[in-house]
Amino acid sequence: MLILGIESSCDETAAAVVEDGRRVLSNVVASQVEEHKLYGGVVPEIASRRHSEAIVGVVNEALEQAGVTIDDIEAIAVTYAPGLIGALLVGVNFAKGLSFAANKPLVPVHHLRGHIASNFISTENLEPPFLCLVVSGGHSHIIEVRSYTDLHIIGRTRDDAAGEAFDKAARAMGMPYPGGIMMDKIAEEGNPEAYKLPIPKVAGAPLDFSFSGLKTAVINTIHNAEQRGEEINVKDLSASYRKAVVDCLTKNFMLAAEQTGMKKLVIAGGVSANSLLRRELEKQCEERGYEFYRPELKYCGDNAAMIASQGYYEYLNGNIAGLDLNACAQRSIDLG
Ligand code: KG4
Ligand code: ZN
Repeated sequence: MLILGIESSCDETAAAVVEDGRRVLSNVVASQVEEHKLYGGVVPEIASRRHSEAIVGVVNEALEQAGVTIDDIEAIAVTYAPGLIGALLVGVNFAKGLSFAANKPLVPVHHLRGHIASNFISTENLEPPFLCLVVSGGHSHIIEVRSYTDLHIIGRTRDDAAGEAFDKAARAMGMPYPGGIMMDKIAEEGNPEAYKLPIPKVAGAPLDFSFSGLKTAVINTIHNAEQRGEEINVKDLSASYRKAVVDCLTKNFMLAAEQTGMKKLVIAGGVSANSLLRRELEKQCEERGYEFYRPELKYCGDNAAMIASQGYYEYLNGNIAGLDLNACAQRSIDLG
């Protein structure tokens, strides 16, 4: 069964054709990142405009590369939440129009459920139940994935998301948006013990995260050095900061595994591309005898193959929207 996926929640216009939730026939991503770099972050108005310009070409390209026409498609899956509202609306409205014109069912997909599904594409035999750490630019959650469509949040960030924490600290160190990727590269050459940074905890909620104090500590370190006329060692500060963020993520994730008794651990979202996070979790899972799964690097960031994959499971579960489907800037992953 072929599903056409459409994604436009942030700064990537994407479309893909996926067979039976697992086999990617095409995966087209038009990134706007170079334009947003000029402003140090995503400018929502620009994102919406670029989505409107790109979407027809991107969807046509995805069908063409898959060697199919719209008639071969069983259903159209679209990201409807969460994200930038103007950006989401472009994908949702395009999908609605296509669904109406081609007489195909419309399947609403939660963006973070899509990120989790990137693992179904990357690992053919991975099936729920499992525990998932979802870390993206806007969210950080620990989720019990009981089935493809039954998900429960058991830990979440109280302030910044992990990706946001990387991007803001990287920006303070002078790196271009999105700084998380560059910081990861630079950190490989630094000493993670060089700068002492706090490992924040949330009192009374050991599975929750808090990154804003850590980010402030880095910004204060930079300002203090500036005031004293000292040079910051960007490699060492990047390595120390990356280690602090990864320590917070892995510590809570391991505790969640202990508490739930789940032994299959999965990561997803843009930050799941982080090389230290991947190495650390691989090591710690091996030590504890857990299975560990992560998406291929090309599916960590925003793409539509993951939306088509999750769309397949939502469709099998009867999750079909009418033409009154609306986009939502915020919506919890457990609500679908
Ligand atoms: O999932 P994603 O592509 O978009 C959202 O749904 O938000 O995540 C983007 C985030 C950005 O904050 C980016 O800096 C971060 O993922 N990111 C990384 C790495 N690659 C992407 N953060 C740390 N290390 C990386 N290698
Ligand atoms: Zn994303």
